[in-house]
Amino acid sequence: MPIDAARKPEARTGTFDLDAALAQGANANNALHAEHINPRFAKSLGLIGFDKTYVRGEGAYLWDAEGNRYLDMLAGYGVFNMGRNNPVVRDALADYLSRDAASLAQMEAPVLSGVLAEQLKERVPGYDYVYFTNSGAEGVETAIKFAHQATGRPDILYTSSAFHGLTNGALALNGTDVFREGFDPLLPATHKTAYDDLDALEAALKAHNVAALVVEPIQGKGVQIPADDYLKQAADLCHRHGALLVVDEVQTGLCRTGTFLAMEHGGPVDADIVVLSKALSGGYVPVGAVLYREAVYNKVFSSLEKCVVHSSTFGQGGMAMVAGLAALHALDEMDACAHAQEMGDRLGNGLLAMKDRFEFIGDVRWRGLMVGIEFQAPKSLKLKSAWSTAHMLSKDLFCQAITIPLLRDHRILTQVSGYNMDVIKLIPPLTISEADVDWFLTAFEDVMEKVHKFPGPAWSAIFQIGKNALKSS
Ligand SMILES: Cc1ncc(COP(=O)(O)O)c(C=O)c1O
Repeated sequence: MPIDAARKPEARTGTFDLDAALAQGANANNALHAEHINPRFAKSLGLIGFDKTYVRGEGAYLWDAEGNRYLDMLAGYGVFNMGRNNPVVRDALADYLSRDAASLAQMEAPVLSGVLAEQLKERVPGYDYVYFTNSGAEGVETAIKFAHQATGRPDILYTSSAFHGLTNGALALNGTDVFREGFDPLLPATHKTAYDDLDALEAALKAHNVAALVVEPIQGKGVQIPADDYLKQAADLCHRHGALLVVDEVQTGLCRTGTFLAMEHGGPVDADIVVLSKALSGGYVPVGAVLYREAVYNKVFSSLEKCVVHSSTFGQGGMAMVAGLAALHALDEMDACAHAQEMGDRLGNGLLAMKDRFEFIGDVRWRGLMVGIEFQAPKSLKLKSAWSTAHMLSKDLFCQAITIPLLRDHRILTQVSGYNMDVIKLIPPLTISEADVDWFLTAFEDVMEKVHKFPGPAWSAIFQIGKNALKSS
């Protein structure tokens, strides 16, 4: 449905001209990136036809300059749970800006961070203190430091396929080699253990002097959903061995999976530290929060002299705190957890219903609106050869054969769920409607039908893209 592509405020004050900056970059965004930011990223966007210019976002939609509407199944990597440009968050930030507020006085205890901490503790009971960060990775760095200080132990366990961010410490907990290669030395004394495997965890706890296990309640990479009691049992095991359990809810938190935290699905989990970020920002201002217990606090901030031994300049900035408070309010108002559950089930069941008809579909798994579609090698000979040629050209190419036509033919933005994986992950804004879910299901069915015809135009196009990528890499 075409609409006015760019909304322009009536009047502007001051000397900065945003229109001029936008005009300077109009239709040149990819060229600017190629020249100044990341030429290879710009090139890969071009290769797969993702080199678009989006000019507006609202709810679960993006618009390009021609007024075409796109369905956003990526939500900015999961920051827009309450929808893009959510009016509650936007108005709260505008209100705050209009007040000339006294943010970052630093030698004071800011009101808004106190209120946000209180509200987070109400939603995630059982924790005593909240430490605010500027990103998910910074929350993970915080958890690593706190676990070391609280236990006096050196070793941190992480899981296969884990993703906790890309700063040095968080990268040392990354379960995928491609992210780590060449960045050594990373944090020492970190050890990988199999995800969703309690025997492996127990063996690792026995083998090392473990401060903490850091783990996602559902893995972003591949949308791996563990057994219902995995986290509860992991907490018990960690505690029996004197270690802490750190649950990374950066992507899964704030109603994404149908409950406020994903770790609630299998009943109460006695985690020691919980890390939040992404959607707490309202999609506007980076913010994260680490919830933790008094025993950890007393070790880290152990004296008056050490009362700011861990801190960061922007940690409790006014805009970030307003974004956090407004984001929570917006999620409450839209009953986001229940809606995520309902829409997730509609989407997941709709996809599952296609499994028998399309032999490339191996599995569909979901919790709320965190959905993974896993593809598999087909049985029929012709399709098998298409599958193996695609994988020979690139391990990610098969998934691109799905994401490319979804965007090109159906205006739906999706992404492959991780390197070397045949999984597409769907994490749309939690505002999506039944009609949006059906938009995706109809589009996906069309793409599946075409990709199940080999030889055929869908495959010629994808092989060409694979060859072009090989040539230019
Ligand atoms: C589970 C998880 N933890 C941590 C991070 C890192 O967050 P950020 O990119 O804000 O540093 C991410 C980012 O995708 C994530 O999914």
